Amino acid sequence: MSELVLPEVELNIYSPKDPTEITVVENYVCTKESSPNFVRHVTFDVSGTELEGRVRAGQSIGILPPGENEKGRPHKLRLYSVSSPTKGEGGKLNLISTTVKRTIEELDGKLYTGIASNYLADLKPGDKVKATGPSGKRFLLPENEKSFNYVFFATGTGIAPFRAFIKELYEENDYDGHIALVFGCAYRTDLIYADLFKEMDEKHENFHYITCVSREARRSDGTKKYVQSSIMDCAPQLDPILSQENTLLYICGLKGMETGIYQNLAIKGFSEYLVLKSDYAEIDPAEWDWEEMRRNVKPGDRTFEEVY
Ligand code: A2P
Repeated sequence: MSELVLPEVELNIYSPKDPTEITVVENYVCTKESSPNFVRHVTFDVSGTELEGRVRAGQSIGILPPGENEKGRPHKLRLYSVSSPTKGEGGKLNLISTTVKRTIEELDGKLYTGIASNYLADLKPGDKVKATGPSGKRFLLPENEKSFNYVFFATGTGIAPFRAFIKELYEENDYDGHIALVFGCAYRTDLIYADLFKEMDEKHENFHYITCVSREARRSDGTKKYVQSSIMDCAPQLDPILSQENTLLYICGLKGMETGIYQNLAIKGFSEYLVLKSDYAEIDPAEWDWEEMRRNVKPGDRTFEEVY
């Protein structure tokens, strides 16, 4: 396998105590049709700040919502993955994008709307935002990115870094390796950036866009279609990529999604993507207990995980 070298990155040029100010230039819905979930693509102009040209795809920026909580303390910083490539949105180094889903929940019969996500989703072009970052130094494409194939697993807004990676590979690097993007969401209306990925699928023979919609048709055994079920159900597309020694695996999204992915990879014999602690290898992966797995199964050297 080619040597896997991660690029050096800039970290925390701006901290919560010393944030910078960036300006919204666009804010649009990036799900396919009218969905009860509201996911938006928000782009900022970072001109004149030290963030310009110094935020890599895979990193995050911090957003400081204005105002205070019920205890009179300033609202906490929230991190958002960058969904624009390293060379900037549309190739402009001063433009950085992120992908935001409005958090809306009912708790004890009361509507709860997430502070930072709704603040961001409400912003209009010209609005100024206090920002920090960049942060994150491992969930990155390697330096020699053209030497690898990629399997990307995303749920929900976990798609953000993969939009950035995929744009970077095809639009900036003339990439001709193999990519599989496996995206999971509840309903077809929640497919994020679907037009872009469908276009990539049509344009690039070696790009596979696999969607796992969990609350519509079920799998033949009655279970939900989750990103991890694609390892079983989409073997013709995934096996040839997963079996190559220069393939890297990235997982981003809901905490817990990694467990199912590791279990199915192990069942299929793709154990090089995970590391098993002590004598866990003795146990048949089909019998793995999800709680014990969290302690005993970790990502391998070719696997990158960002779950929250
Ligand atoms: P479901 O909620 O039907 O169980 P979103 O971020 O838009 O809510 O989408 C998350 C997607 O991830 C949904 O399809 C959700 O399915 C699915 N999901 C929930 N838990 C897991 C898990 N442990 N592994 C993989 N996918 C999951």
